[in-house]
Parts: sequence; C-alpha cells; structure tokens
Amino acid sequence: MLLKSDLRLVVSTYAGLEELLSKELRQLGGRDVEIHTRAVSCVGDLGFVYKVNFSSRLALRVMISLTSFPIKDGDDLYEQVLKLDWTELMKVNQTFSVRCTLNSDLFDNNLYPALKVKDAIADCFRKETGKRPDVSKTDSDLEVNVFINKNKCTLLINSSGDSLHRRGYRVDVDKAPLSEVLAAGIIMLSGWEPHKPLVDFMCGSGTIPIEAALMSANIPPGLFRKKFAFEKWLNFDEALYKTIREKQLERINDQPVRIYGNEINKYTLEKAKENVVSAGVEDIVELSLGDFRDFERPQGNGVVIINPPYGEKLQVEDIEALYKEIGDKFKKSYAGYKAWIFTGSPEGAKAVGLRNNRKIQLFNGPIDCRLLGYELFEGSKKDLYQNKE
Ligand SMILES: C[S@@+](CC[C@H](N)C(=O)[O-])C[C@H]1O[C@@H](n2cnc3c(N)ncnc32)[C@H](O)[C@@H]1O
Repeated sequence: MLLKSDLRLVVSTYAGLEELLSKELRQLGGRDVEIHTRAVSCVGDLGFVYKVNFSSRLALRVMISLTSFPIKDGDDLYEQVLKLDWTELMKVNQTFSVRCTLNSDLFDNNLYPALKVKDAIADCFRKETGKRPDVSKTDSDLEVNVFINKNKCTLLINSSGDSLHRRGYRVDVDKAPLSEVLAAGIIMLSGWEPHKPLVDFMCGSGTIPIEAALMSANIPPGLFRKKFAFEKWLNFDEALYKTIREKQLERINDQPVRIYGNEINKYTLEKAKENVVSAGVEDIVELSLGDFRDFERPQGNGVVIINPPYGEKLQVEDIEALYKEIGDKFKKSYAGYKAWIFTGSPEGAKAVGLRNNRKIQLFNGPIDCRLLGYELFEGSKKDLYQNKE
C-alpha cells in the first residue's frame, strides 16, 4: 500500500513562517509536528490532508511522503521505484510528472534521476496494464517529487497541485501584489486581534485587508480554489472531503471587525475593490482612494500594516523621503497603535526615523525583506514607564 492510514506530510511555506505553520498544523490536528527549513512535517490521515489544503493560510504545498530508501545509482533507483504499485494512485490514461531535487554526488544533475523515476513509473503501468501513461509537464494528474540527499531517496506526491498562495479570489492585480500566504503570515506575526481596527493605508490590490478579513471571519482560503491535486487521485474520497469542507465552513463567523484599505492609485484601487468583492468580504473591508498623508485614523487603538513601495518592482522617486513621511505620520496620528512596515528597502527602513521593537526577516520572492514593528505610545515613553510604577 502506497498510502497508509498514518501519512507523513511535508508542508512547504516561506522562510520565516515555519514556526507559525507548525502551530497552525497542530491546531488543525497534525501529530508529530517537526520544523524544517521552509517546511514543516507532521502526521495525519487522508482527511487531514484535505483539511490542510482547504484551511491552511500558511501552506504553499502539501506533500505526502510515500517512502524513503537508500540508492547506489540510477539503475538501483529505477528498480526501487518499480517495486511500488503506482496503479494505486492513478489510471493509465491519466498523466504524471516527476520533479527531482538533488543534494548528492551520485548524479551530475537532476535530469537523469528524474528520467529513471519516470521510466520506472511508466514501466510499472506497462507491466500491470500493457500501456504506459503520458508524462505532462504542466497540469499533470499526479506530481511526484523525488528528493535525493546523499544516498537517500525520498518520494513524495503533491496533494495541492498549484501553489496554495494562489487562493483564487484575485480577479486582477496591479504591479506588485504580495503573495497571499506571505500577507497572512505578516498579519499573524503582527499579533493583530480582530476586535481592533486594522489599517493598510497603501493597500495596492488589497491582499493584506482581504487576508485579514478572511482570517477574522474564519473563512477557509480553500473556498476560492477550483481544484486540488488530490481530487484527481484514484483514492479520492469525495464524501470525506465534503464532510471536511462542511465542518470548516460551519466555523465561519460574523463577528464585527473593522478593516481599512487605502490606495493612492485609482486604477489599483479598482483592482482592490474587485478582489474584495470576489473574496466576499466587501461588508468587512472599507476601501478608500487617497494619499496616506490624508487618510484619517479610525477610532480606537489598532494595528497598521503597510507594504510601501521599495523600488524593486515599483519605482519611487525618493524612497527615503516617502519612508520619512510614513514615520512622521505614525508619530503624529497613530499614537496607541502598533505599526508594521514590510519592506525590502534598508534605506527606506532607516529613513522611518522611529526605533523599531521588532525586526523579522522574511523574503518576498528572492528579495530579502524585513517586517519592522513599532510600538507607538500615547504620550512619551517616560510617561508610560512612570505611570507603571
Ligand atoms: C508594494 S505596493 C502594495 C502592494 C499590496 N500589499 C498588494 O498586495 O497588492 C505599494 C502601494 O502603495 C501605493 N502608494 C504609493 N504611494 C502612496 C501614497 N502616498 N498614499 C497611498 N498609497 C500609496 C502604491 O500605489 C502601491 O499600490
């Protein structure tokens, strides 16, 4: 049996979000949770695989580890893979693909071992059915991932398909949208509590406000997704998946929350509006057009989370002047708030002119970024400490 009742999952995420993902997986019911680099592994059953795909806000891909074995060379790899019964997972008229990640001197590159695994899977079908299934590089029905570390080979199958950060609610985006998973991670790291207002006064296509709204209402991100890879597998248990979806949907709530997005560019704001409607959170997210300098702070103390331009994707004439004005705005109008800036610009970060009390390294694609946290005290810090005594 390739798929046993206790499955070991390897769930990938972005660097810096592993700890949060491990908590999320525990909350969803994962066992034996272990943190790795850009991934977390845990144990669960098939229903858990469906649940993580449907409900995780931080997972990029949910892979199931099938087996691990030592290998000596390409022929040995072929023989070991041929021993497994691949007809359990898909039909011969379905397609498959193989991706290989190599950290070993056994092969010069990853193409040859990938080819050996492809041949073995195809030959397994030929032995059983007389026919070989087709390989498809794009949108295959079964994606097999091969990890070769020194002389150890691990085979995994991708239960998600396309990366889960593509939630499916985005109708359109403007130039530099944040990944939905990264936005969700930033909101979790910020410590925002839904009874407090959340402001993104440079919201672009609305990713931060939308992810915050989905989170506050417990709307599972998988709701917008058209397909998960596991739905094409032979063992797909449709009734179980339906039950899991229904249970997760029962958790949706209508608690009152106040989430504000503001954007200077009219065209970009139109995209944000379309995305907010597509995600079904137009009653939670209030959007406005304008310069952040004119944006009026909502009543009550809350959290500001912004992702200002940092010159990589959006050209800004004077980054330092822009970030200095952001810092001034925080000081002048947001006393009592917690503020967070997510940026890839060290010059911009310096120009804010406020001392940050948190600095978290994250990556936006290849760009080394920081999430900077500022505690904006009401009154002076001196007052605050004197009042504590
Ligand atoms: C990096 S993008 C934000 C992307 C956004 N997080 C998303 O996921 O789509 C920065 C945004 O700040 C906006 N912006 C730049 N200057 C602004 C200003 N003075 N007031 C308000 N928004 C501004 C830009 O138009 C741009 O959409």
